[in-house]
Parts: sequence; C-alpha cells; structure tokens
Amino acid sequence: MKRILVSGAAGYIGGTFTYQALKSGHEVIGVDNFSNSSEKNIKYFKKKFKNNFYFHKSDLSKENNALKKIFENYEIDYVVHFAGLKSVAESEKQPKLYWENNLNSTRNILENLTNRIGLVFSSSATVYGNSKYQPISEKIALRANSTYGSTKIACELMIDDYCRNKNIKAICLRYFNPVGSHSDKVILEPFNNAPNNLMPRIVRVAKGIDPELKVFGKDYNTIDGTAERDYIHISDLISGHFAALNKLNEITDCKYYNLGTGNSTSVLKLLKTFEKVHSLSLNYSFHSRRKGDVEVCFADPALAKKELNWSSKKSLEDMCRDSL
Ligand code: UD1
Repeated sequence: MKRILVSGAAGYIGGTFTYQALKSGHEVIGVDNFSNSSEKNIKYFKKKFKNNFYFHKSDLSKENNALKKIFENYEIDYVVHFAGLKSVAESEKQPKLYWENNLNSTRNILENLTNRIGLVFSSSATVYGNSKYQPISEKIALRANSTYGSTKIACELMIDDYCRNKNIKAICLRYFNPVGSHSDKVILEPFNNAPNNLMPRIVRVAKGIDPELKVFGKDYNTIDGTAERDYIHISDLISGHFAALNKLNEITDCKYYNLGTGNSTSVLKLLKTFEKVHSLSLNYSFHSRRKGDVEVCFADPALAKKELNWSSKKSLEDMCRDSL
C-alpha cells in the first residue's frame, strides 16, 4: 500500500487513476478545485472507499499553504499531478491564465517535494508540436504550437530543474490521445461539457445530441485525407502510470516517456470503427482544417516498453466499445 497525492482527482484521467489506485488498495489524498469537473466522482470515492480516500478542495496554483498542510499531515509516497487547464483554444485566448495556473500549481507541488517522494507529471504529446518525425520518439526537440503546449514544455523544464537542484525524482508522461472509459464504467469520458476532442464528439452524435460530426480537414497528406492520431484506451494510459510509479523506485532524476499505442488512426477510420462496433450509422460532413491542428501525430512507444515494461493492450475496437 502506498499513499498517493493526486491533483485533479475529480477529472476524467485523474479520476480514473484514483479509482484504480483505490481499488488496488492504495491510499489516495485527492485534491481538486472543480474548475473543469464536478463533485460527482469525489462523492462516489468518499462513499465507496471510506477507509482509503481523503479529499481536499483546493486550487493548487494559489493555495500553497493548503498544500503544505497536506504534506505535513500525510506521509506521502508519490504525487501524481494531473491538475491543469488543457484547452488549446482557450489557452490562445487566455494565455496569462494558462501560464499562471499550469506553472504555479506545478511549482507549488515541487516546492513541497523531498527526495523520498516521487512525482509523476501529466504531460502531453502536444510538446512535440507539428513534428515531421513520425512516429515520435522522446528524443526529438520539443516545439509547441499553442500556449497550452508551451506551458507543458515549461512545466517539464521546471520539473527537470527541481530534480537536479533539489535531488528529487520525477517522470513526465507524454499522453497521446486518451479515449474511452474504464470497464467498470464508474468514471466516464465527459461528453456534456462542449468537448473539443473527437471521441466525445462522436459519442454526442451517436446519442442524438448533435445531428452530425464535423470532420475538420479532408486534404491532409494521410491515408484518407483526414488527420491521424494515436488513440489510446484510458485503462492502458492508467496502467502506464502504475508502471511509472514502480520506475520511480529505481531512478534519481527526471525521465520522459510517451504513452501511446504506436498506431496512427485517421478521423474517418475512428468514425467507421465506432459505427461497426456499435452497429450504427453516423452523419458527418467535411469542414476546413481546425486552427492549430497537426496533420499526423503518433507515438514511438519503444522507450516505455523497454524501461517501464509497459505497452498498450487494447484495440481501437475496445476503445470505441468503451466510449459509449
Ligand atoms: C487535442 C489537443 C491537444 C490535447 C489533446 C488531448 C487541440 C488542437 N489539441 O489534440 O493539445 O493534448 O487533445 O486529448 O485541441 N476532429 C474532428 N472533429 C471534431 C473534433 C476533432 O474532425 O469534432 C479532428 C481534429 O481536427 C483532429 C482529430 O480529430 O484532427 C483529433 O482531435 P482531438 O480529439 O481534438 O485531439 P488532438 O487535436 O490530437
């Protein structure tokens, strides 16, 4: 049993991690300010895991004292830092908000770490920008396309710096495109909050909430003209976090790993697979490219396989099945 501080415990990814950690018998101290989530998941954890779940409502980017108290009151083994603002479009409109929120919360966590507490940080493939090297390995130079992406790069740099200067250890996990829900269907990928991402938009059409899917761009240099991504089942993504926690026991510095499948899937392929799995037919129409979108982005997952002993297991069909 380990004691894990989870920031962003109410959200889709942080909540799925929290659920799996609690089910596995770990103690979780969850923190969230509900800026992008509701209290529903937290209420469920409190009821279902009375003996190993604790929760503090707090904005980690502002309340360093609250965080200090948490570290004083609980002997934390690991911190998994999911909390952060994550909309590309919003980050372009409100860069100050993104710089303050995403960097301050990360800095406040780092200030409270000691060399016996390991950190796992939620990073993103967005740090690679529009890379001509595909599949993307961790070695390529980072170059973001948006303020959101720049804040992720800056957080990674800050973490690396603290690791060197404070003698702490951390792993940055660069997520590709997480989709679907844990098979227990407790934490679901939200589709009600005006999502930008493809899978929840497909779900909205399947549920009859939206009349059609708008496909952004049909003139990309790809297999069918639509953009390609590396979709990864949320359960595989979460198992990558537990592999990273194990790895923290062996390292003394900062490491970076891609969490992706290594498969490149077009928008139309995802849509067609979804239709096949659910025996549905979905309306769609083509529109111009979405600003800031990249053509192709998929992972070289070899390093995570070699060093974390982790690889994805679920297929595109599984992802579609577990999304509705
Ligand atoms: C987006 C974010 C990225 C973030 C990731 C997390 C942008 C530009 N990038 O990545 O920073 O880390 O989510 O999951 O927002 N699409 C449609 N119709 C839709 C929605 C999407 O055709 O209604 C297309 C997009 O144009 C894109 C593909 O589907 O080509 C995937 O889009 P999305 O799910 O938003 O993921 P990313 O763009 O890869």
